[in-house]
Amino acid sequence: MDFCGTLLEWYEAHGRTLPWRGTKAPYRVWLSEVMLQQTQVAQAEGYYRRFTDACPAVEDLAAMPEDDVMRLWQGLGYYSRCRNLHRAAKQIAAHYAGGHRRLSYEEWRALPGVGDYTAAAVTSIVWGERRAAIDGNLYRVLSRVFRIDTPIDRPGSVFRDLAAALLDEGAEGMARRGWTAGEWNQAMMDLGATVCTPKSPRCADCPLEAMCLARAEGAQELLPRKASRVKVTERTLRYLIIENERGEILLHRRMGRDIWQGLWEPLEVAASHRMKPEHVVSHRLTHRLLRIEIGRGTMADVPRELTEDWRWVPREELVHYALPKPFTKVLPQE
Ligand code: ADE
Repeated sequence: MDFCGTLLEWYEAHGRTLPWRGTKAPYRVWLSEVMLQQTQVAQAEGYYRRFTDACPAVEDLAAMPEDDVMRLWQGLGYYSRCRNLHRAAKQIAAHYAGGHRRLSYEEWRALPGVGDYTAAAVTSIVWGERRAAIDGNLYRVLSRVFRIDTPIDRPGSVFRDLAAALLDEGAEGMARRGWTAGEWNQAMMDLGATVCTPKSPRCADCPLEAMCLARAEGAQELLPRKASRVKVTERTLRYLIIENERGEILLHRRMGRDIWQGLWEPLEVAASHRMKPEHVVSHRLTHRLLRIEIGRGTMADVPRELTEDWRWVPREELVHYALPKPFTKVLPQE
């Protein structure tokens, strides 16, 4: 049975309609792929619209002040993605200003925040380059259909080679029907997201069911295999919300190579600081579980020297500051 033809016929009938699918504009495809790296489609859709309304072209994003870009991104998490997006937008805009509007795979790959996955996704979707975008969906679908036991956290080149072989094998038939590797990649994503799901896959609705080796053995939920369980570490952070006599709130821009780089937050105090938390918020990052304790401070807690990365912010202006998600509930921004 023809893997590519079967997959793509299914995609034509059952692929999702998503806001970035109607375009071949490299900037928009790239923006969507960056957002989708660690974000569910449903959440990314709203942010994609917000970004493309505010910045219809890459030049608009490049020209936007960093604080405004961070503010647009607020709530999506993994803020290094946003900083890289902005830096890369400046590089792309400079490249375009030179008159060249097509970047090669290697040029995409050299941009901040762009790895093999994103470069392959963009060049295949926009220009039809024959490249597989290797992500969790592809690992899951291929490990099940071909019953591959290789752990996906140490995959070597098994999946990459298999995907390339499938694309090579299917190339002629796909070209005849007007399909490119871009459609193939998105078909794999949709199949992985809607049918070949991590838990309780909907095998009866799967176009590849008849050729799926895991299904034949009933092993679909045991695959893909992982070598290691990632350890989640816990960390407690303590904050004081301090309001001055004018009703302004003290915020500090968080710097350094830690979480939330560049975002604004209340005064952080040492874990040994004695306080009565008014709010305790749990916040899950990929490998970390944060326990955030937030109490109320007084003017006596204000650091003696407030450098330029400290601000007294009136409540109605909080909306202009990018805050980490746990603080958006405690410090209402509307
Ligand atoms: N996940 C990552 N990229 C995607 C895309 N282009 N469509 C749907 N889901 C995705």
